[in-house]
Amino acid sequence: MPSEAGDGFRRRAAALLRSAANDLKRDDDNAERDLGLEPGSFADYTSGRRPVDWGLIRRAAEVWPLNERDLLPVHDDCPRGLSVMRAKESRSSSRVLARGGEGYYEYRDTAMSRIASYRPEWIRMLRVVGDNDPDNPLVQWNRGHLLYQFTYFVGPVNYYYRWQGRSYCAPMETGDSVWGLPFAPHSFTARSDSEPAYILALTYGGSLVGDAQRELAVLGRQAAHGLALPVADGPSSLAAALRSFMAAQAVTPAELAARTGLASARIRQLTGEDTEDTGGSAVESELGVLAQGLGVSVRDLLPPRSGTHHGVAIQHGRDARSWFLPDEDTPAYRLTRLAGDPLHPHTSALQVDVLTPAARSDAQLVTYQHQYLYVLGDQPVEVGWEHSGERGTELLEPGDSAYVEPQVPVTFSTGGGGQHPRVLLLRIAGAVTPEVRYALGTMAEGGINRYIAEDQLWYSKEGSDRRA
Ligand SMILES: [Fe+2]
Repeated sequence: MPSEAGDGFRRRAAALLRSAANDLKRDDDNAERDLGLEPGSFADYTSGRRPVDWGLIRRAAEVWPLNERDLLPVHDDCPRGLSVMRAKESRSSSRVLARGGEGYYEYRDTAMSRIASYRPEWIRMLRVVGDNDPDNPLVQWNRGHLLYQFTYFVGPVNYYYRWQGRSYCAPMETGDSVWGLPFAPHSFTARSDSEPAYILALTYGGSLVGDAQRELAVLGRQAAHGLALPVADGPSSLAAALRSFMAAQAVTPAELAARTGLASARIRQLTGEDTEDTGGSAVESELGVLAQGLGVSVRDLLPPRSGTHHGVAIQHGRDARSWFLPDEDTPAYRLTRLAGDPLHPHTSALQVDVLTPAARSDAQLVTYQHQYLYVLGDQPVEVGWEHSGERGTELLEPGDSAYVEPQVPVTFSTGGGGQHPRVLLLRIAGAVTPEVRYALGTMAEGGINRYIAEDQLWYSKEGSDRRA
């Protein structure tokens, strides 16, 4: 078994085993028989007195309909709520990757955590070009990659992107940013070899990595294509959502018409069955009755929107929106909105200019998202945070980066210097999607604590549990 300082990993493994046995409706006697354990020992495993080892996990995955990973907890590599990677450590991870036999990029790792899906790299462009031609033969393209990519540009960097066979070049400068969709080929070069030209390529998988990817890998190509929902302007997205729910519930257009009071012809229009006339978007009152008829929420019928153009959303610094927090009269920070897309409403990219010399309680930043931060520019910044009732502070130097857990309040200050440090923040959602958050919010009393660390059988052996 992988080891981890402290007994947190062991306790989380114990809780997962109890939780899995509960799900399968096995009490201790049944679990011991299934797993070939000596009588009385299952409670030792589920209490953490004995470590859940590979042998037990393998045996459970053989005899129970679950996977080894269902019994494996994740590692907590951020016990203080915030973990720092110093610029020096980043430099020591430096490696040059060649394209076409010549060095093309220098990569350096920046702060990552096993808790979040970030894979953020500092990347220096080694190839210098003299034009903005996307077909310049000096440009070496990749094949695209799974992870979403938010990129922040520093210096004269050319960004190349390809969509549906066409190539584009966007000349970028410091403060520009872009957000791009998975698997679209792209590349970067420098327009000058006399000034720094690098990017912060903050890739992340979000909900695409983890369970969804593993499930689809088993279901196969045909199912994966069938499960893809369109994100398009116009009625086709609503039609796809409606058809999907109707298939799920085996509801015919006639039955939906009867439930909603809408005409069958209108249902056929809305579901895209009537190809002559797509019927336009549903009006608000129709969405309400459709949701009612299908027993879902209106939000489940509404497709997301994407502002990407040719697979990317570019935000030039010169047009970016800026504002002050907490207010313009006594600002602690000047915030600037960087590239993003409505397709990912739970991703926010911000540039933070730190104006306050000392940490201020009215300038605490707290969010449900995982946070990545990188110190831009040449000024150090002081970061303060609170976690499990303890306060921490660190002085972060330029090039230092950090990961911050969700719900951990953070403050930034200049530490008394007259200059204004600049911090790049990329916030992303983890596996705790809105569906999970709503589920947490509707659990019966005591449910949340048991969900994160199940420590008991789902019923009382002594009989009905009368505790309040
Ligand atoms: Fe990339």
